[in-house]
Amino acid sequence: QDAARRRDRAVRAAVAQGLLDSEPLVCLLDTAGIRASAAALTAAFDAVTAPGTPVLHAFAAKAAPLVPVLRLLAGCGLGCEVASPGELALARAAGIPAARIVLDSPAKTAGELREALALGITVNADNHQELERLDALVAAAPGGPVRSPVGVRVNPQTGAGSIDALSTATATAKFGIALRDPGARERLVRACLDRPWLTRLHAHSGSQGLPLPLIAEGVRELHALAEEINAAAGHRRIDTLDIGGGLPVNFASDEHTPTYAEYAGALREAVPALFDGSYGLVTEFGRSLLAKHGTVLARVEYTKTAGGRRIALTHAGVQVATRTVYAPAAWPLRILAYDAKGTPKTGPPVAQDVAGPACFAGDLLATARELPELAPGDLVALPDTGAYFFTAHYGYNSLPRPSVHGFTADAAGTVRFALARPAQTEAELVAEAGGDRGD
Ligand code: LLP
Repeated sequence: QDAARRRDRAVRAAVAQGLLDSEPLVCLLDTAGIRASAAALTAAFDAVTAPGTPVLHAFAAKAAPLVPVLRLLAGCGLGCEVASPGELALARAAGIPAARIVLDSPAKTAGELREALALGITVNADNHQELERLDALVAAAPGGPVRSPVGVRVNPQTGAGSIDALSTATATAKFGIALRDPGARERLVRACLDRPWLTRLHAHSGSQGLPLPLIAEGVRELHALAEEINAAAGHRRIDTLDIGGGLPVNFASDEHTPTYAEYAGALREAVPALFDGSYGLVTEFGRSLLAKHGTVLARVEYTKTAGGRRIALTHAGVQVATRTVYAPAAWPLRILAYDAKGTPKTGPPVAQDVAGPACFAGDLLATARELPELAPGDLVALPDTGAYFFTAHYGYNSLPRPSVHGFTADAAGTVRFALARPAQTEAELVAEAGGDRGD
């Protein structure tokens, strides 16, 4: 497979070019893979959408909050979904125009809302109280009506996928306005009819682990609600549907499944009218655009045995794979073994615990994993970690944020790295730990 070949080349080049000389672990992003994912997403929607339909694919910044990544995706025609003032700052630093930014924070302050409206950023309100806050801000907007498109997030309460904590459309989820609670639908329709500036509906049914039919069910609910509001209004009051993200990623192999084409096909089957051009569309994919294109690469420092188990002590652990360490059954990661030169290791598989560097017993990437026997100086790679892994660094033990390098390989196989994020320095660690307060 192309992606696996590019990864192997990048590992070898990372060693040859000395990326691991100053740090015991680095993170790699395959820019060709990221571009291919963005192109696949765009093509999948182009294939099912009536010509001329406005479609904005807003990358969910939380999956990889790195300015060069946002810039790369913007260059592929994508916008950006942000869920905090910090993410908004990153999107702006990446030069993404306000008209291509969507703000979804669940607990927006009045200041955050005011700034978004002043900039012309799309705002998706989470609840009735936020809509009331917006009433006041819209009324007070200098120079007349606000430029920002405003929507409201709906929880279709369609149920959970395989990972509860990532299922955002359960009956009791904290996000959006719960649609199936008694009286809720009527109140929401009224809230929309009362506000001429409220022109969008938003739903994000959940992340990893949600089956396509459940995602499609949520979108069907969203579309039906828009039709109901528009029928009551007597015109196209709701003109845009934001259907969120959530396409799951296959962590078991290099295969990229399910695909965006399968996702678009499932939606088209469940809600054919979604694509007929009567609504503009917004998507908010995160994980599926990035996960397969990121690799953590770390040295094995020591190997030993304890109680009959083999243990490899590596530099990749809880700081870059928090979820795997705390919930290994929900988030198993593949581990690939390379020798000190970055050549894939061969040899009979041997059961080994692969441990991280942090000072707690649970800092394990895998237990009894069958791998060619690891030795000090070897490397382990964690593929599929481009979203919500090393980009969601966990600062326990003051382990520094590792560097992130985007890479490209030319036709001759020469790999070039570009620094996307430098490693956190000791001075930064000390300053962030209050060390520069001088008292
Ligand atoms: N839009 C909204 C409003 C979201 O809340 C999310 C993810 C997305 C879009 C992007 O979903 P994706 O396409 O990436 O599945 N911390 C978790 C991930 C939580 C994702 C939450 N929201 C993790 O570590 O995997």
